[in-house]
Amino acid sequence: TSILILNGPNLNLLGTRQPEVYGRATLADIEALCRAHASTRGAEIEFAQSNHEGALIDSIHAAKGRHGGIILNAGAYTHTSVALMDAIASVQLPTVELHLSNVHAREEFRHVSYIARVALGVICGFGAAGYPMAMDALLAHLAQEG
Ligand code: DQA
Repeated sequence: TSILILNGPNLNLLGTRQPEVYGRATLADIEALCRAHASTRGAEIEFAQSNHEGALIDSIHAAKGRHGGIILNAGAYTHTSVALMDAIASVQLPTVELHLSNVHAREEFRHVSYIARVALGVICGFGAAGYPMAMDALLAHLAQEG
């Protein structure tokens, strides 16, 4: 089983970006965590990040036929992007929406998610540990799907 783990805008700055909100782990640390976790589960991952909405959409399109599902931390595009929502709906790949922070405990504008409407489920508030949680949730779903 192969999973695309896709990260959106500003997540390249993890480690130094508002560490009180997002923690001290860098995106490279999180990638290493995901790779270690994938090997214990016998899964493969592609790990990517872009600050550009269109590039994220291209990655979602390219996932079709190459990956069984997607873990998406769309950053602020979560709260704004009909285009990302449509991309997920178009490829019909099971997608777990992920956030490091508990978006529901934050500003009102972060309570809205376009991604959630087309997601299998949502994991938020557990920091970097949410990534392996999302992987397990997606792998369990894919195993059950057969
Ligand atoms: C985030 C939450 C978003 O609201 C924010 O815009 C981000 C990061 C998170 O992982 O907690 O960039 O997706």
